[in-house]
Order: sequence, then C-alpha cells, then structure tokens
Amino acid sequence: MNRGYAGAGAPHGGATGSLLSQYSTRLGDTLVRHRAELAERASRIDAQLANQVKTEFIANISHELRTPLNSILGFSKMLKGAGDSPLEPRQIAEYAGFILGSAEGLLSVVNDVITISKLQSGQFELSMDLVDLDDLLPRCAAWAIEPADDSRCRLVTRIDENLPAIVADAERLKEVVNRLLSNALRFTPEDGAVALTAKCGPRGKVVICISDNGTGMSAQEISVALTEFGQVNNQLDRNHEGTGLGLPIAKTLTERQGGEFLIRSEKDKGTDVILMFGPAEQARGPENGGRDSE
Ligand SMILES: Nc1ncnc2c1ncn2[C@@H]1O[C@H](COP(=O)(O)OP(=O)(O)OP(=O)(O)O)[C@@H](O)[C@H]1O
Ligand SMILES: [Mg+2]
Repeated sequence: MNRGYAGAGAPHGGATGSLLSQYSTRLGDTLVRHRAELAERASRIDAQLANQVKTEFIANISHELRTPLNSILGFSKMLKGAGDSPLEPRQIAEYAGFILGSAEGLLSVVNDVITISKLQSGQFELSMDLVDLDDLLPRCAAWAIEPADDSRCRLVTRIDENLPAIVADAERLKEVVNRLLSNALRFTPEDGAVALTAKCGPRGKVVICISDNGTGMSAQEISVALTEFGQVNNQLDRNHEGTGLGLPIAKTLTERQGGEFLIRSEKDKGTDVILMFGPAEQARGPENGGRDSE
C-alpha cells in the first residue's frame, strides 16, 4: 500500500485538495479582477491623454488657422481699400509678401493634416528608390543654415564618407530630416548647438542622428510629443507655434520607408532623434525586389 499518496501528500485529494482548489479559484478571481482594474486604469489614462491632446489640438489648430487667415484678410483689405489713398509700390510688395507668407503657412498646416490622415489610412504613396545620403544629407544641412542663424544656434554637420546607399523615398526622407532639424533648432536656446550626423552602425546599418542640447523631454513628454497634435509645454515655444504633427509624421514616414525611429531625450540636457536604415543590399532582399511603392 502506498500510504504516502493517501493523505496529506496527495496533490488533489481529500481536504487538502479542496483547500488547494479553493485557493486557486480565489487566486484566479483576484488575478482576473486585478487585470480588469489595470485595463480600466490604462484606458482611463488613454482617455485622459486623448482628451488633453484633443483640447490642445483645438486650441492650437484654431490659432494656426486663424492667425494666417487674419493676416491674409487684414492685408487684403488694406490693398483693396488703397483706392482712396494709393499705396506706394514698396508697401504693395510688402503687404503682398505678408499675404503670401501667411497663405504658405496655412497651406503647410492643411498639408500636414492631410498627410497624417493619409498615413493613418494607409493611402500614402511612397516612391522608393536608391538614395545617396552623401548627396541628400548635405542638402538638409544647407536648408538648416538660415533657421540656425535665426535661432542663433551653432549647426554642426558630420556625415561620414562612403555611406552605403539605402532604399527610401528621397523627398520624404529629406522632409523627415528637415522636420527634425527644425524641431531641434526651435527647442534649443540661443548659443546652443544642433548636430546632423550620419555614420555606419552595427550590421551595416546607416545611423542618422539629429541632436541638440536644448530643452529635452521626459519619457512621458516624449509619448505626448509622438501623439498626433501632442505638444509639450515649453518656455522656449513662446508663441506656441506648430500643430504638433511634425514628430508623428516624421516617425510614421521613417517606418513606412523601412527605417527605425528612436528618440533619446533628457530634460534640460537635450534630445537625439535617431533614424536607422539597412543598406540597400539588405533592403533589396528577396521579399523586397528593390523598388517599392505603397
Ligand atoms: N528636439 C526637441 N527638443 C525638445 N522638445 C521637442 C523636440 N522636438 C519636439 N519637441 C516637443 O514635441 C512637441 C511635438 O513636436 P512636433 O514636431 O510633433 O510638433 P510641433 O513642432 O509643435 O509642430 P509642427 O507640427 O509644426 O512640427 C513639440 O511641441 C515640443 O514640445
Ligand atoms: Mg515640429
């Protein structure tokens, strides 16, 4: 007779077995309740974040649309009313310049809203081809010279020679880098530094980094900044410009081109935004016959 299994030692038998089964039922119930509470808390936080972003979006978008519209209306009225007291050609050119600048600003806000909605609905067309970064990145750096002067920031460029070609949409990649340079310059105080660097990283990947020693962001602020229309309160952004679409567009565009998008940031220290692309030979693997179009 095997006494060992008849009593206390039996895993599911007798009084101990029923006690164990009661415990496991209770434990199961507690776990289910705990998970439900966690899910409920997470969805409450998501809803709060979404609400906060929505409120900020309405405030920002009305500012971003109203300001240029008011300027267009105001200067058009001045041009129209000029019949009684003719304007000098210099004034006409100046007012027309203000109208043009405001209309361009308005168009870029509208274009950003269209871009993000097309990206979200998967209707965004990409024109993938071989991209020579030795040619593309210096053009981004040249674009940034003027905004860097305006922001009184030092612009440093370090692009390694002979970077491997990558497969991407050249225009869209340029747009991504320029958006990130524009952020870096906007959120870095005077006398700060912004750098655009590119080098060959692990596994032959090309690593493009846009870094600054500006205001930086906490981990929570990064997740707000990556949410559509999300903006982080920032004392450098006095006029609360922009719509909060730059980072989400840059991230989605990078990932759609097969790249990786990482943000490393520390409050009051600065921010690195890192883009990583496999070299063209990897991108042209059997599943990706070289050219691609979404
Ligand atoms: N390099 C950076 N340093 C510090 N904060 C940043 C940086 N880049 C972005 N942010 C924060 O993230 C927010 C969102 O950036 P994003 O580019 O999406 O929008 P935006 O620059 O405010 O407007 P736009 O749509 O014109 O780009 C910014 O408002 C800013 O608070
Ligand atoms: Mg931006």
